[in-house]
Amino acid sequence: MNVAKENAALAALEFVEDGMTLGLGSGSTAEIFIEQLGEKVAGGLKVQGIPTSDRTAQCAIEAGVPLIEADKILSIDLTIDGADEVDPAFSLIKGGGACLLREKIIAHASAKMVVIIDATKMVENLGAFPLPIEVDPFGLTMTADKIYQALKGTGCREAQTVLRQKKDGSGPLVTDGGHWILDSKCEHIPSPVETARALSSIPGVMEHGLFIDLADTIIIGEVDHAKVMEL
Ligand code: A5P
Repeated sequence: MNVAKENAALAALEFVEDGMTLGLGSGSTAEIFIEQLGEKVAGGLKVQGIPTSDRTAQCAIEAGVPLIEADKILSIDLTIDGADEVDPAFSLIKGGGACLLREKIIAHASAKMVVIIDATKMVENLGAFPLPIEVDPFGLTMTADKIYQALKGTGCREAQTVLRQKKDGSGPLVTDGGHWILDSKCEHIPSPVETARALSSIPGVMEHGLFIDLADTIIIGEVDHAKVMEL
């Protein structure tokens, strides 16, 4: 699996040009890309990166990739990030690593988004991977109920949500932005656009993991090559 991720990341490097401001995604595939980018920087490539999570920032520092604070820039040339699921219209589920809010802010500000995945992430319909929804802890029960109604109302097969816990079981997982995550195993999301719109209209929802009309290029890593798909 790592070889496939490495091949996807290597192919993404082809999109990077000298002088670019880069959105740096989160997750294991994005981290492989950042390590490879670090080698290019050591070889003289000049770029600046904006990390989508504290963990990615640490990873970039270790790889020697210069960083710039998100508050200091208006736009981003290119973002390279992973995904949990990708459908044929290039709609994505993201947020398995709990970084979806910052990932979406960065993707939205980017002129181009390249998504790097292995072949297991390509699906006909989104929804088998639990959809992460980042929520404010205040009024959680009310927000969870609104989410249930939004998911059911837009035709999702299942709509129950589960509050994501820390790995050590000591309580709810807290995102870099200080929020909680509700995961919903929808099974099947028939209309990602409608579901995304319905979730975005709920005040307690800080962001959801449906990334619509953001990805321009999908790179699928295989064991011996990478396939580049453009919309
Ligand atoms: C992080 O919040 C996610 O959106 C990741 O991009 C996604 O979970 C993919 O991660 P992997 O590359 O580790 O599969």
